[in-house]
Amino acid sequence: MPHDSRGPAGSARTAVVWEVLSAALAEAGPDLHVVDAGGGTGGFAVPLAAAGHRVTVVDPSPDSLAALQRRAAERGLGDRVTGLQGDLTELPGMVAAGSADLLLCHSVLELVDDPAEALAGSVGVLRQGGRLSLLAANRAAAVLARALAGHPDESAHALTDPAGRWGPGDGMRRRFSADALRELVSGAGLHVEQLHGVRVVSDLVPGAVLDAEPGAAAALLALERALSDRLPFRDIATQLHVLALRR
Ligand SMILES: C[S@@+](CC[C@H](N)C(=O)[O-])C[C@H]1O[C@@H](n2cnc3c(N)ncnc32)[C@H](O)[C@@H]1O
Repeated sequence: MPHDSRGPAGSARTAVVWEVLSAALAEAGPDLHVVDAGGGTGGFAVPLAAAGHRVTVVDPSPDSLAALQRRAAERGLGDRVTGLQGDLTELPGMVAAGSADLLLCHSVLELVDDPAEALAGSVGVLRQGGRLSLLAANRAAAVLARALAGHPDESAHALTDPAGRWGPGDGMRRRFSADALRELVSGAGLHVEQLHGVRVVSDLVPGAVLDAEPGAAAALLALERALSDRLPFRDIATQLHVLALRR
């Protein structure tokens, strides 16, 4: 997997996810079938296709799928990326059971009505030995962010709301704790192998600081890596990432 400043791998906001994925893919072998549920415009799908894998993106948004196809075509990867219009709950009817080596479910579980049901249905596309990469918003980060923004009421709401929402203005987006994600993944019948915090500090540092200080961006990336699996830092990250195995 390329780790350069042009792709997501070079960003402190996604580096930890790419590193976990790269290691899992290297172990699984070349030319894998990756299913990217809610893959949108291909921020993960296109680099994975560029790394030699076949990627099926299932997303309800026709605009996102059109952007995905353009992005893939621009890089000469049109034949390695397939976009299908559909919902996470429709995945089992759209992708053959047991056909995927890797299932990405990144920033999507926040948006579905019943995350447990959607996840349990989706993982059937994985072959035995295949892996799930699950990335989801962390409730604790929302609690801290609302308080730091000067909204203690919203912070308290995010803490106690069953879905981790901070109020009516927060739309439909759910948030999860590390324990809740472990439970969801185990409930879907998978074995949790790794759990990392993603964007522990990178959302807290203003971009201008990084631009002004030579070496600061690289230092931040190293710090993100170091904090991603250390408590208590992992559990206040903006997002949580789970890698899980279908045994
Ligand atoms: C925040 S974007 C994440 C895109 C991509 N997974 C990533 O991490 O860059 C959320 C995506 O989920 C899609 N989406 C929304 N509701 C969905 C659902 N019920 N099932 C599947 N995808 C959904 C949206 O169209 C959008 O492309």
